[in-house]
Formats: sequence, C-alpha cells, structure tokens
Amino acid sequence: MKNIMFIAPPAAGKGTQAEKIIEKYHIPHISTGDILREISKEDSEIGNYVFETLASGKLVKDEITYQLIEERLKKEDCKNGFIIDGFPRNLDQAIEYDNILKRLGYQIGKVIVINVEEKILEKRITGRRICENCHAVYNINEEENAPQIESICDICGGKLYQRSDDNIEAFKTRYQMYLEKTIPIIEHYKKQNVLYEVNGNDNVENIAKEIDKIIREN
Ligand code: AP5
Repeated sequence: MKNIMFIAPPAAGKGTQAEKIIEKYHIPHISTGDILREISKEDSEIGNYVFETLASGKLVKDEITYQLIEERLKKEDCKNGFIIDGFPRNLDQAIEYDNILKRLGYQIGKVIVINVEEKILEKRITGRRICENCHAVYNINEEENAPQIESICDICGGKLYQRSDDNIEAFKTRYQMYLEKTIPIIEHYKKQNVLYEVNGNDNVENIAKEIDKIIREN
C-alpha cells in the first residue's frame, strides 16, 4: 500500500479520516499535532514552549518537528505504509521531508488535500470534544458525531474536554498559518504528480468513500 499524506486546514477532518483508513488497512497514523500535544504535557523548557505555541495557533519551530518525524518513521510499523498528517506544514518542512524519505528509502505515496470552507471549519473547531480517557473525538455541533450526553464519552464513559486551541481566536491564527505557509506546498506535490483533492464539506462517510477510491487507484 502507498503511504498517505493529508494536507488540510484546521479541523478539516484529517484525524477522523485517518481513523477510517486505520480500521480498513491497519497502517499507523502519524500526527505531528498528537505528538506535540504529548510533548506539551512535559514539565520542561521544550514542554512549556510547545504548550504555549499550540495554544496560540502558531507553528512550532521546524527543527523540533524534523527529529520527531524521522524517529517515528524509522519504527518497524511504518514499513508497510503509513498516514502522515500535520507534516509538512511549510515549504522548508516539505523539502526536509523529501530528504527524510530518501534517507529511509520510502516513497512519498499519495498526497490528499481535503478542502473545507472556512465557516464549516469554525463550526467543527468550536464543537470538537475529545475523551480524556480513550481519545475518541466527537462534535457537539454535528448530529452525526455528537455524543449522547454532551460531556460524556459514549464508548468508555470518560469526561470530554476541549483542546486549548479550539477557540475562534486560535482558529483565526491556525487558518492564517494554513493559507500563508501550508497552501504553497500543494504546488510542490502537484509537480511530483502525487496530488489528489477531495471535497471535505461533505459528511464523514462520503469523504471516506472518496478517499478510499483514491487509495485503491494505482
Ligand atoms: P494539528 O493537531 O495538526 O491541528 P490541525 O491541523 O489544526 O488539525 P486538527 O487536529 O485541529 O483537525 P483535524 O483535521 O484532524 O480534524 P478532526 O478529524 O479532529 O496541529 C495542532 C498544532 O500543532 C498546530 O497549530 C501547530 O501549533 C502544531 N503543529 C503540528 N504540526 C506541526 C508542524 N509540522 N510544524 C509546526 N507546528 C506544528 O475533525 C475536527 C472536528 O470536526 C471533530 O469534532 C470531528 O468529529 C468533526 N468532523 C470531522 N469531519 C467531519 C465531517 N465530514 N462532517 C462533520 N463533522 C466532521
């Protein structure tokens, strides 16, 4: 199976769609956002820096991401394909990612852009709730993903929380970062002939079908 990369604005559904692919193809999901959120819990200089940067909606320094991505991709479970989400996020990262892939002997695979309108992203951002115990993701603004009880996980009964950057102010910065820094990398992948685009304004199942079609094409 070819490796999959998602490029999409904040709360477009990268994590949600990655879950669907994992269920079907059993490949690992590598999210720099998830890795950085773990680092942000550390009581250290780097932990504090990452915590504050994430809450502000800005990007963390490139150098921090390089080592953690290369270390993660070296693991045995990536040998048969992986989904990468949240990296690269700017042109420098895209160029370094090409170097990392070369060093590890991996192909870029398929790069899938999920396009979603800004108004819909705002609704998804403000409604996202995550289980602090099993990490299941819900959305109180979207009937199809809403938990039965607003603050309780349907699966394990854990408490649901909101991410520190899931507010309108941080969203504006995250969205601006996407437009300024991330959109330019789309051209980088277009030139390599590995780019696919999907309409992410639709419901989860329809988007998943569109993505699966791309995965199954040669
Ligand atoms: P990251 O965690 O990557 O955040 P993001 O790109 O903003 O993406 P999200 O995790 O918010 O959303 P998602 O697309 O996974 O959406 P989800 O599926 O949850 O990065 C966070 C921060 O880390 C960055 O701001 C930056 O500071 C730092 N960072 C990360 N990588 C970095 C890098 N490479 N360099 C520098 N800094 C980096 O869905 C969202 C919600 O919508 C959920 O509630 C879900 O249930 C709902 N939903 C999903 N799909 C649908 C649908 N089709 N219909 C209705 N509801 C839906």
